[in-house]
Amino acid sequence: MKTDTPVLVLGGTGTVGSRVVARLRDRGVPVRAAGRHTDPVFDWEDPSSWDGVLAGADRMYLLLPDDVGLPDGFLARADRAGVRRVVLHSDRGVEVMGVTRLADAERAVRGSGLEWTIVRPDWFAQNFETFFRDAVAGGRLCVPVGEAKQGFVDADDIAAVAVQTLTTDAYLGEVLELTGPVALSFREALDHIGRSTGREVTFDGSVEAYRREMTAAGLPAEVVEELIEGFTRLAARGDTEPTGTVERVLGRPGRHLRDYAVEAAARGVWAPDGQQ
Ligand SMILES: NC(=O)c1ccc[n+]([C@@H]2O[C@H](COP(=O)([O-])OP(=O)(O)OC[C@H]3O[C@@H](n4cnc5c(N)ncnc54)[C@H](OP(=O)(O)O)[C@@H]3O)[C@@H](O)[C@H]2O)c1
Repeated sequence: MKTDTPVLVLGGTGTVGSRVVARLRDRGVPVRAAGRHTDPVFDWEDPSSWDGVLAGADRMYLLLPDDVGLPDGFLARADRAGVRRVVLHSDRGVEVMGVTRLADAERAVRGSGLEWTIVRPDWFAQNFETFFRDAVAGGRLCVPVGEAKQGFVDADDIAAVAVQTLTTDAYLGEVLELTGPVALSFREALDHIGRSTGREVTFDGSVEAYRREMTAAGLPAEVVEELIEGFTRLAARGDTEPTGTVERVLGRPGRHLRDYAVEAAARGVWAPDGQQ
């Protein structure tokens, strides 16, 4: 494994990617973060932007943005450019939620001829400050998974595992399913957040409430029903079990959602609008 060539982090300015980049830099590993606002620019929708970021990199963290699939030919292009290892950021719900774009990407990575590792995180703890942020700040979150316990995992722990897969040979050919140290229902997770902010956040895990909210938010009916289908399968799976993979790879416990909630509340992420 070379150490003088940059590690390419696709999606390197987002929630997980920026943390991967920071951790690699802290270790003195050369890094190239790539996205639509980096120099050089990288855009999945513009194949002419690909070679510029691939050139000279021998390892890459491949994080696809939400709703973006892996374009045919991208991995072959990476191979020709000299990339030898790909670590794919996938999703622990890939089968149960039917995430076909990531199932396809996993297949492509396995068949690419490159060294590979697949990282499959459960729900990020940080979702509560990204796409669930406004609902949490508003005091009511609706996700149609009922009381089933989820494996919320901290993005910092995902990034720490990613760095191990990129900088050692210990996880080649492995699929790493990442959860936090405990499984929690959404209601339990929101209780931790409520205790940290001093403001209660109620939870509604019913399909009816979710359908009503998403429809009121203007989502097309077929999109809402597709989302409900995935969540219903996740609810039917029931409680998840922590995998212990974060602990195995890092040799320390993963961060408990309670500790995330305390830290995020102190940053003011759920402060009522206008008070951040
Ligand atoms: N949230 C969860 O609980 C969860 C759980 C498991 C797996 N996942 C998976 O994790 C991924 C999302 O990770 P994240 O939350 O860290 O992402 P994120 O914060 O949304 O960041 C997306 C990154 O991709 C870049 N990007 C967006 N559109 C792009 C384009 N057209 N071309 C090139 N780069 C582009 C963004 O930068 P620019 O916008 O500047 O281009 C940014 O660096 C998704 O694949 C999701 O399915 C999520």
